[in-house]
Amino acid sequence: MLNRTALEALTRRPLPFLGSAWPWRCVAYLLASVVPGAAVGFVAAATLLVPEPLRVLTGPAALAVCVLPVAWFERWRLRLVDGVPLPEVPDRRRREAGLAVMTLLAMWWIDLLMVAFTVAGPLLLVLTPVVQPTVTPFAGAAASVVGVLLVPVAAYTVTAWGGARGAMVRAVLAPQGSELSEVLRSRARLVDAFEMERRRIERDLHDGAQQRLVALSMTLGMARLDLPESSDASRLIGLAHDEAKQALAELRELIRGVHSPILTDRGLAAAVRDVAGRSPVPVDVDIEVPGRLPVPVEVTAYYVVSEALANLAKHSGATRGAVTGRVERGHLVVEVRDDGAGGADPAKGTGLTGLADRLSVVGGRLSLFSPVGGPTLVRVEIPCA
Ligand SMILES: Nc1ncnc2c1ncn2[C@@H]1O[C@H](COP(=O)(O)OP(=O)(O)O)[C@@H](O)[C@H]1O
Ligand SMILES: [Mg+2]
Repeated sequence: MLNRTALEALTRRPLPFLGSAWPWRCVAYLLASVVPGAAVGFVAAATLLVPEPLRVLTGPAALAVCVLPVAWFERWRLRLVDGVPLPEVPDRRRREAGLAVMTLLAMWWIDLLMVAFTVAGPLLLVLTPVVQPTVTPFAGAAASVVGVLLVPVAAYTVTAWGGARGAMVRAVLAPQGSELSEVLRSRARLVDAFEMERRRIERDLHDGAQQRLVALSMTLGMARLDLPESSDASRLIGLAHDEAKQALAELRELIRGVHSPILTDRGLAAAVRDVAGRSPVPVDVDIEVPGRLPVPVEVTAYYVVSEALANLAKHSGATRGAVTGRVERGHLVVEVRDDGAGGADPAKGTGLTGLADRLSVVGGRLSLFSPVGGPTLVRVEIPCA
C-alpha cells in the first residue's frame, strides 16, 4: 500500500521503509528550515544593524514582511512529509500567521538541531578515519562500523520527527473537525432523509396496498360464503382467499421492516419485544431505558436488534436468544446473544457492515464476539446525547 504521510510510512516493515524515499524526504523537509532561519536572520539584522531611533520600526516591520512568505513556504514544504491535500478552513490567514510566528520563534532551529544530531552524528562516525586521521586504524574502523549501524536508527528518528512536525503543521492549518464535522453532518442528513423516506413508504403501503388487500380478502371471504361448499368455484375462491391472506401477512411484515410504527409510537422496548415475539427462535427481552431516547438512537438500536435477530434465525441454529438494553454512563448499550454455532463474519454478508455504517453516523460502536462453535454476542454502544 502506498503511504501518504511520513508517519504512515513508519508503520511499514523495516526493509521497505528503509529503502523508501521517506527518510530522505524528511531530511529535506527539516533542512528546508534554513529558509525561516534566514528570515530570522533578516529580522535580526533589521533590528540590530539599524541605528537606535529607527530600530523600533524596522524590527517589527521586517517581521511583518516575513510572516506571509514563511507561512506560504511552510504550507508548500508540507507536501514533502504529508501528501494529503489540506482542506480549506475559514480562518486560514490567522492560522497561517500563527504557524509562521511559531516557526520563526522555535521550530526552525529545533528542526536543524534534529538533523544535525541524527544525520551528522552517524555521518561523522562513518567518516572518522578521514576526518580524524590521528586515531588508530582499529578505532577508526570501529567508529565507522558504529556509524553504519546507526544509519537505520537515524532514518527512523528523522522520519519520526519530520512526520510529527508535519502533523503539527497540519493540526495548526487544518485542525481535525473543521472538515470532519461537516462530512458527518451531511451523512446524518442523508440518514435523516432515508428515515423520512421510509416513513413515507410505510404510510403509502399501509394506506394503499394494504387496505386494498384487506378489502380483496374480505370480498373473497364473502364470495366463498355465497357458493355451494363442494363446488369447484368455491375451492378456487378458497385458494384465492388464502393467497390474499398470505399476501397481506407478507405485506405487513414488509411494512414493519421498512419502518416500525410501534417504535415511533411506543419506543424501543415495545418495538424490540414485538420483533422478538415474531422470531421463530424464543428470545428473552430485558430492556430497561428511562422513557424515550432520541429518535436516531432508538431507530439505530432497533435496526441493530432486527438484523441481529434475523441473523439469529437465519444463521445461528440457536435454541434460545436474549436481548438486553440499558443506559450506562450516557450510552445506550444493547446486547443480542444466542447459543448457536457462532462464526459470524461481517465480510461474508452485508447486514453487519451495514449496521456498522449506520452506527458510525450516530457515533456508536458495534462489537461482535462470535468464535466458531459459538456462542454469538452482538453489542452496540450508542451515545445518547
Ligand atoms: N448469530 C449468528 N450465528 C452464526 N453465524 C452468523 C450469525 N450472524 C451472522 N452470521 C454469519 O455471518 C455472516 C454475515 O452476517 P451478515 O453481515 O448479517 O450477512 P447476511 O446478509 O448473510 O445476514 C452471515 O452470512 C453468517 O454466515
Ligand atoms: Mg444478516
